[in-house]
Amino acid sequence: MAQGLAEAASSAPQDFAAFEHEAWTRRASGYCAWFESIVVQAIEPLLDAAGVRAGVTLADLACGPGFVAAAAARRGAKVVGVDFSASMLALARERFPWLCFEEGDALDLPFPDHSFDAVTINFGILHFAEPHRALREVFRVLRPGGSIAFTDWARPGPENAAYAIILAAIDAHADPVPLPPGPPLFQFASAGACRRALAAAGFDAAGADTRFLPQVWRLDCADDLLQAFAEGSARLGARIAAQSPARLDAIRAAIREGCRPYLQGSKVALPTGVVLTSARKPRVGQTDHGSDVLLSATERAGERR
Ligand SMILES: C[S@@+](CC[C@H](N)C(=O)[O-])C[C@H]1O[C@@H](n2cnc3c(N)ncnc32)[C@H](O)[C@@H]1O
Repeated sequence: MAQGLAEAASSAPQDFAAFEHEAWTRRASGYCAWFESIVVQAIEPLLDAAGVRAGVTLADLACGPGFVAAAAARRGAKVVGVDFSASMLALARERFPWLCFEEGDALDLPFPDHSFDAVTINFGILHFAEPHRALREVFRVLRPGGSIAFTDWARPGPENAAYAIILAAIDAHADPVPLPPGPPLFQFASAGACRRALAAAGFDAAGADTRFLPQVWRLDCADDLLQAFAEGSARLGARIAAQSPARLDAIRAAIREGCRPYLQGSKVALPTGVVLTSARKPRVGQTDHGSDVLLSATERAGERR
């Protein structure tokens, strides 16, 4: 029994990773069509937080259709986009054929230590089966002093009405759907959780910055919210896909009701806030593998100058 439980626990991240991989293989174009207008709003603050400018070497992890990589290249950065979904990479290469994209797992990056000045992850960390392992990988591939910046959606509520409305409608009206257990969707929406995770991976957590980005998702009608998540999301997409027509009608009605305060004529403007976190890999006192080393007094004095 104990062994069975241990096996179940150790296979959970693989099951979740396989689920996410399959979801992003099937829903890449739906994601691109529905989510572009909201996810691109975070890009410039994300690149600013990571210190991306001309000449900076950048890995954009979970790059999806390449929006962040393209914006970084426009700043003059030397960027590679990495994603584990071949369908996402096909979209990225079709849209931005002049940029470099590589297939790879954020949990096991195909790069040597100290390869990059900066790493960005836009709405990717919430999809990783083992986000803490991904942060350790980011730490490894960053040069000392390098920066990480990543985004998550704000917790459902007035600042993130889009998620509040869709989650409330699904929770109230959907039949239960068994999904492989995965990390919480809003795990990186709190400054404290981000700091702890960054510290555990070796980053300078005291100097980490977490801030709220107020964003608004403009959709043609309330029904588009359900369509967007059905065609362009992983966990919620799977829950929606498994519902009967009657359940979908009830979900749709609840979404229309929830969107009522956000109607602007026939359209809706939904607050869809974002939490942006950034931190640095310490510049001194680290070995190639990120472990602490004791610097001699002379070296410390030199660093202070
Ligand atoms: C919500 S999309 C975000 C895409 C993009 N960053 C953007 O801003 O539009 C999440 C992306 O994470 C990718 N992803 C999830 N888990 C991954 C992993 N372990 N390694 C690499 N990519 C991963 C998915 O394939 C998908 O492209």
